Amino acid sequence: MQLYDAIARRRDVRAEFDGGPVPDEVLMRVLGAAHAAPSVGHSQPWDFVLVESAETRAAFQRHVAAERDVFAGQLAGERAATFARIKVEGILESSLGVVVTYDASHGGPAVLGRHAIADAGLYSTCLAIQNLWLAATAEGLGVGWVSFYREEFLRELLGIPDGVRPVAWLCLGTVERLQATPDLERFGWRRKRPLGEAVHRERYRYGSATSVD
Ligand SMILES: Cc1cc2nc3c(=O)[nH]c(=O)nc-3n(C[C@H](O)[C@H](O)[C@H](O)COP(=O)(O)O)c2cc1C
Repeated sequence: MQLYDAIARRRDVRAEFDGGPVPDEVLMRVLGAAHAAPSVGHSQPWDFVLVESAETRAAFQRHVAAERDVFAGQLAGERAATFARIKVEGILESSLGVVVTYDASHGGPAVLGRHAIADAGLYSTCLAIQNLWLAATAEGLGVGWVSFYREEFLRELLGIPDGVRPVAWLCLGTVERLQATPDLERFGWRRKRPLGEAVHRERYRYGSATSVD
């Protein structure tokens, strides 16, 4: 698959996982793509915890369901009704969970390029996630990012040391298909922002739009 195809086809997957096996060599290719991401000071501050255990996944799924309720409780009217139709995870249906963590001590003590922007380490971890996501798409797999959790809970569940931040639980696995349109658009939660609204020429201006579409 060409890069732009993979970018266009990539979807956040929730309902389309079919729980098939992911061969180890495919998984390692996908993780290898993640590990090839750029990182501040070449620190490669990420780690990947592969979670297959049904018990661990069930415990995480229960926690996520409770956090979903917390968010739902903050909504009213049309927002509440729309959100009620949206699935926010495929933890049990996916083939496995990949928990991506950020450890600021990797590549230290003096991380070149991070002295002024501490978040540059987190940015690097997110780039690893995006590489993983695109590589999985190119392999015909689906990925769903789950962020309905408290970091302390996931740290405790997986024995992640203090000071290491869980950044994402990624549901990874074989899929029946990838949707053409993001779920949040399909279910009426939020529409895509046109590119022209995000592009500013020369200076940042609120509400400015360019001719880019
Ligand atoms: C940081 C981050 C956190 C996300 N958390 C969730 C989540 O908890 N549950 C979920 O269903 N999707 C989650 N998503 C997926 C977004 O909803 C999705 O990327 C967006 O709606 C656009 O859809 P697309 O990825 O299919 O293009 C997350 C995405 C990102 C980047």
